[in-house]
Amino acid sequence: MITFVVMIQIVLIGGGNLAGHLASVFSKTAGLQLVQVYNRKLDKIKSFEKFTEITDDIHALVKADLYFICVSDIAIIEVSRNLPHLNGLVVHTSGATPLSVLNTHTQRGVWYPLQSFTTHRVPDFKEIPICIESHNPQDLQLLKQVAELISNAVYEIDSNQRMQLHLAAVLVNNFVNHLYYLGFDFLEQHQLPAQILFPLIKETAMRIHEVDPYDAQTGPAKRGDIPTMTRHLNLIEDDTQKALYKLISHSITQTYGKKL
Ligand SMILES: NC(=O)c1ccc[n+]([C@@H]2O[C@H](COP(=O)([O-])OP(=O)(O)OC[C@H]3O[C@@H](n4cnc5c(N)ncnc54)[C@H](OP(=O)(O)O)[C@@H]3O)[C@@H](O)[C@H]2O)c1
Repeated sequence: MITFVVMIQIVLIGGGNLAGHLASVFSKTAGLQLVQVYNRKLDKIKSFEKFTEITDDIHALVKADLYFICVSDIAIIEVSRNLPHLNGLVVHTSGATPLSVLNTHTQRGVWYPLQSFTTHRVPDFKEIPICIESHNPQDLQLLKQVAELISNAVYEIDSNQRMQLHLAAVLVNNFVNHLYYLGFDFLEQHQLPAQILFPLIKETAMRIHEVDPYDAQTGPAKRGDIPTMTRHLNLIEDDTQKALYKLISHSITQTYGKKL
């Protein structure tokens, strides 16, 4: 008996950070076939040749079931509008961009992987939440199918919810990472190794699996310990960092009903 394996054919539009990780995971996932990668500059996607055919000609896009727009958020509308007519589902991958920006396409959706991708680390897609959206049940089903092939965490989320989610992600990832940067820089200025903070960082991140962040809060601002906070502020020279310390301390004291 001959069995036919139905492959979902995918084209990636864009050749940056996310496109690189998606090309890698799509290429090794049974049931998915990466048929082409497009980017406006061909030299930027030479490394994608190991996965599939590449092009810098927007009018040479091949036939596919799904077209993933993986360009910078500010370029999504322009790139979407410049696409030729496509007989397939066109999605973007942005957390902060509504589905409506793809209104010129009959079949449209969003396929947003909620993770911070860098070129330095290979992500485990099985653990990455994939947030999908489409008005058309069949298109939603296709997005779900692709998401479930690579991830164990798939969520149907609309554009308004995704915007809230993206804001929360900025708070817990981008802002926290910036605080890591400031903390490490402060240590370096005082000849202390960054690794000394690693166990504390790990414990803070792991604890929220078991304890609500509200209950997990510790530190001088929660205690209303003004002498310690004053000593800290005297150590900080940079005005923006002083203001940041005061603002976050104020947010903590307000959350726990303390007065400073
Ligand atoms: N990185 C993440 O952690 C992450 C996570 C989830 C979702 N996303 C989403 O994934 C999408 C891509 O992000 P990324 O991090 O991969 O960005 P990136 O690494 O900065 O790459 C940006 C890509 O967009 C292309 N591009 C920029 N402006 C363009 C324009 N005006 N016309 C045509 N192409 C243009 C660039 O082309 P050139 O190479 O020719 O400049 C490049 O291929 C975004 O919507 C982002 O929100 C990213």
